Amino acid sequence: MCGIMGYVGPQEAAPILVDGLRRLEYRGYDSAGIAVSNGSIQVRKARGKIANLESLLESEPTGGSIGIGHTRWATHGAPTDANAHPHTDPSGEFVVVHNGIIENFQSLKQQLLDDGAEFASETDSEILAHLVAREYDGDLVAAVRRTVALSEGAYAMVAMTKREPGKIVAVRKISPLVVGLGDGETFLASDIPAVLHHTRDFMVIEDDELVIVTDEGATVETIDGAPVDREVVRIDWDAEQAEKGGYEHFMLKEIHEQPAVVTETLASRLEDGTVWLEDVGFDDEYAADIGRVWITACGTAYHAGLIGQEIFRRVLRLPANVEYAHELRYADPIIGPNELTIAISQSGETADTLAAARLAVDKGSRMLAITNVVGSTLSRYADDILYTRAGPEISVASTKAYMAMLIAQYLLALRIGAARGTVDSELAAKVSHGLHLMPGALEEVLSREAEAEKAAHLVTDAEDMYFIGRGLDYAIAMEGSLKLKEISYLHSEAMPAGELKHGTLALITDDVPVVVILTQRDVYDKTISAVQEVKARGGRIIAVAYDSDAEIAAHADVVLRIPDMEDLLAPVAAVVPLQLLAYHVARLRGHDIDQPRNLAKSVTVE
Ligand code: M6R
Repeated sequence: MCGIMGYVGPQEAAPILVDGLRRLEYRGYDSAGIAVSNGSIQVRKARGKIANLESLLESEPTGGSIGIGHTRWATHGAPTDANAHPHTDPSGEFVVVHNGIIENFQSLKQQLLDDGAEFASETDSEILAHLVAREYDGDLVAAVRRTVALSEGAYAMVAMTKREPGKIVAVRKISPLVVGLGDGETFLASDIPAVLHHTRDFMVIEDDELVIVTDEGATVETIDGAPVDREVVRIDWDAEQAEKGGYEHFMLKEIHEQPAVVTETLASRLEDGTVWLEDVGFDDEYAADIGRVWITACGTAYHAGLIGQEIFRRVLRLPANVEYAHELRYADPIIGPNELTIAISQSGETADTLAAARLAVDKGSRMLAITNVVGSTLSRYADDILYTRAGPEISVASTKAYMAMLIAQYLLALRIGAARGTVDSELAAKVSHGLHLMPGALEEVLSREAEAEKAAHLVTDAEDMYFIGRGLDYAIAMEGSLKLKEISYLHSEAMPAGELKHGTLALITDDVPVVVILTQRDVYDKTISAVQEVKARGGRIIAVAYDSDAEIAAHADVVLRIPDMEDLLAPVAAVVPLQLLAYHVARLRGHDIDQPRNLAKSVTVE
């Protein structure tokens, strides 16, 4: 996730672009840059936060009232000055900024290299500048159209050329893009809040549309050139709402970003059932030889690891252990050289996870990091890296980063399973297909938020609460319970459904809420027995179940439905109603949802 900006108008472009980038910094902040057109194209870019770009502009100012800008969250290539946007073609006459991923960039880059092109960065984005320049025959719009036809993926781009001063051309292919219409000036941005203090009138660009911005305003067309009569919407959010994209809290915004996060994390990595993981360097021989997988992490990342453990064990028949990092580091574990350690951390800076990962490396294990932050300490220790592409997560309660960790582990399991020949090909095909369908399934779950809110009303006044499930459902129960605890301050415990009768059932009395997750068809009847034990003691049941589950309504007070899918993938969808439940309970209890008491986003101490 990156942020993009554009400006055409009578004012100096640079301060407007930089100000917009600052407001988009939540989308990425490992480098930033602008390009301003003034007879020539002047590019200024710097690694690090926007402040670095501002310092550079102080010493090397630009002049001109047309420009584009970018704040980056690295996906291809480390956070360096060279990899920062904007990118130009070698002549410096064509310049682009880009948000998203060009899935076929390797083959496009190879074609350009074969034609003698030289690249200044490791990014996929730079090829867009080369392609626009190559395709240009006097018409920037046509060149951009041809470039888009060649470039697969989910992205947005903005292009400008010295040859047609006064014009910016932008395209949306899934990644967001809006046009702000000011008084004699026009803005482009990844989201509305970036320019809301300049104008309240917006056109929201849709997929496969192109927008041409000149000093006469903005014209929208389909990518094929058909005119589009786009309605102008007036936005009346206040400044705080705007920062949160109109949501009341960052947590809710991040929950709703999850379909896009799944799309981004899968992009260019899963094609026709084959997995490509750009920073995972081991070969098939190594994968076939792995004797055991260790997964280590803390908190929500540990819960993601629980899902990974189940997948490796059940589907790959590969011994796997997930261990809390703060336990593993002092457990003197027997980790051997043919064992793969997977350390999972959103921030890549959690002290315990770093220590456990280091320990595994010292014991001779190969270490693979699953992390959301390019260049984080964990990524620097790692032999292999699988970046989740969730974008910056602001809310302390992790949601979208967890989602991306799950997707990353499915990809890794498919990759290792293919090398070992231990995954049933029919199942692998179903999982690949199911992953591609997942963003749509998540949209469907999110559209049912009202049901989670209804369930929250059953829980708000409770003092204790329980989450139960079996197998993968138990792993989701753990995450649902943690989410509830950290933001609602309601005591909650998660346990395997079969464990309830071994003690905790003594605490189930009238109206005690119990959340049961029922997505694993092979143990459905067993879990229903636990539901009946709860009902017999007067407890309230909130169930998470498939649309096709006709039986559960007879047992549950509220059913939070998810679309039918492969049981193996169900955790991805089943966690969403639990995130929403936690969110709405905390909201009803009036808590500071994004910054819960006593907690920090990154725990960098032991
Ligand atoms: O950055 P990390 O993924 O390593 O963080 C690990 C935990 O501190 C984190 O997941 C924590 O449990 C979250 N606040 C849960 O929402």
